[in-house]
Amino acid sequence: MRKLTAQELRRAYIDFFRARGHAEIRSAPLIPEHDPTVLFTTAGMHPLVPFLLGQPHPLGKRLVDVQKCMRTDDIDDVGDRTHLTFFEMLGNWSLGDYFKREAITWSYEFLTQVLEIPPERLYVSCFAGDADAPRDEESAAIWRSLGIPPERIYFFGKEFNWWGPAGKTGPCGPDTEMFVFTGGPCTEGRDGECDPSCSCGRYVEVWNDVFMEYNKTEAGTYEPLSQRNVDTGMGLERTLAVLHGYDDVFRTDLFMPIIEQLEALSGRRYEDEDRRAMRIVADHVRAATFIIADGVLPSNVEQGYILRRILRRAMRFARMLGIDHSVLPDLATLVAQRYGEAYPELLQRRDTIAHEIALEEGRFLQALQRGEREFERLLSRLKDRQISGRDAFYLYETYGFPLELTAEMARERGLTVDQAGFQEAYTRHQELSRAGAELKFAGGLADHTEETTKLHTATHLLHAALRLVLGEHVHQAGSNITAERLRFDFTHPEKLTDEQLARVEELVNQAIAADYPVCVDEMSLEEAQARGALAFFGERYGDRVRVYSIADFSMEVCGGPHVERTGQLGHFKIQKQEAVGRGLRRIRAVLE
Ligand code: ALA
Repeated sequence: MRKLTAQELRRAYIDFFRARGHAEIRSAPLIPEHDPTVLFTTAGMHPLVPFLLGQPHPLGKRLVDVQKCMRTDDIDDVGDRTHLTFFEMLGNWSLGDYFKREAITWSYEFLTQVLEIPPERLYVSCFAGDADAPRDEESAAIWRSLGIPPERIYFFGKEFNWWGPAGKTGPCGPDTEMFVFTGGPCTEGRDGECDPSCSCGRYVEVWNDVFMEYNKTEAGTYEPLSQRNVDTGMGLERTLAVLHGYDDVFRTDLFMPIIEQLEALSGRRYEDEDRRAMRIVADHVRAATFIIADGVLPSNVEQGYILRRILRRAMRFARMLGIDHSVLPDLATLVAQRYGEAYPELLQRRDTIAHEIALEEGRFLQALQRGEREFERLLSRLKDRQISGRDAFYLYETYGFPLELTAEMARERGLTVDQAGFQEAYTRHQELSRAGAELKFAGGLADHTEETTKLHTATHLLHAALRLVLGEHVHQAGSNITAERLRFDFTHPEKLTDEQLARVEELVNQAIAADYPVCVDEMSLEEAQARGALAFFGERYGDRVRVYSIADFSMEVCGGPHVERTGQLGHFKIQKQEAVGRGLRRIRAVLE
């Protein structure tokens, strides 16, 4: 097997598919722009949903990329050999173009010829079929024709061989998954009958080809999509580990420099008990670096809260390694350097990232010392083996202890926390926290209804008006649109005065009254920027981008959709402004 570096693997993948007619697109930001139902981009297909549903992509029907992803469901599992929060997904797409034959053949060729994985180590699985979709004999036949014998082709049901939708509704379909057998005994004791669905981990899933030909509806039924797509995902970290014969993703060159730095700083080795702590610090600091680079700052809501939580967890585990001084900012800079070639935004924002982490570290260290004393006091008063929800909330509110931290400290002493009680106290006390990250679940990808389209255009007008009134330092830091309202986060150091708010509203309403046409052009990102178009964290559509202009009022790189004329918007009204973090403000507004 070829012992590639991470960057070599990224390039090999992109080059392989470019040579087969795929256009390379840049990773979309980690923060979904117009999908209020999820906090982070969780898969390569996520930013491509409109195109999987049929909207033409400016770069054509074959795409390839490396997408930054973040999954927050199992933050607490990080620390073992495989779990990660942030990860990179290599993916190739057919948007209504090629289908199973090409996708599977190319997967096989890439695995066996480019990565030189011995074919006899490859196992695959296909969809077994059910009432919603037939058994995928077609994929199995293609695998057989490529030389995979029937005994290494498995059929499983929806729980293994079906992917999507990413939310409650949307594109999905049966998939075929590829595993590399890594040897050794089955640790689940199922030696005779162990197969790729076993949780022992001997069969490492490296790639998933999804045949997205269905749309799951609100009613839970599966309807054929207007086009048949291919969505694939190869895990960069896992694949690298397999190529190098590691059973631990943290041994790859994606993590080893961070681990070595931790060894040097702590004077400890990457082994035994310390291994878990080093993995947690390495994973979390890497994720935090990417999240901050995409414009999020630590806060108590949504993405900012996840960021705060992982930073604080990393700090706590660094302390457990005996490191009692600030190290995370330097580790983040190391991450930015290591990943800068693939993700230039990390290098561009390297100083901000280090600075923000240092600030959060300072805030947390202070709170931690006081909170730990308070925690001990709480324990001395404890009547049973459980910390009450009220006490956990007190630690959260007064000392900034995330619930998970209290739970983890409790667990270490054989205690539990009344989590439901905590949630109750939390909901009671903080209106804002309703949308708190922990309470939020995926509920279907944002659709482009008439209302969201109008609010999307209104967001551009708002952005432009804010820059006119407050200055050019105003940049979009986040946007979230539902059918009822828009929410816009932007960089600005202080509260807006009533006059400023009124002026912003007035400018937007003037632009609406002028009934300007909304024009769209396609050009290179460089040209767009040269013309002065605003771009949000770099653009997601590759070399050719769409630029939406509204007279000389607004020009932004954006995927759309937008209304045709501003006159369609109605009356714009700002409902409230809030602070969402240091130097970051949020405006909620509606169209009436
Ligand atoms: N969307 C598929 C996955 O995430 C490829 O596995």
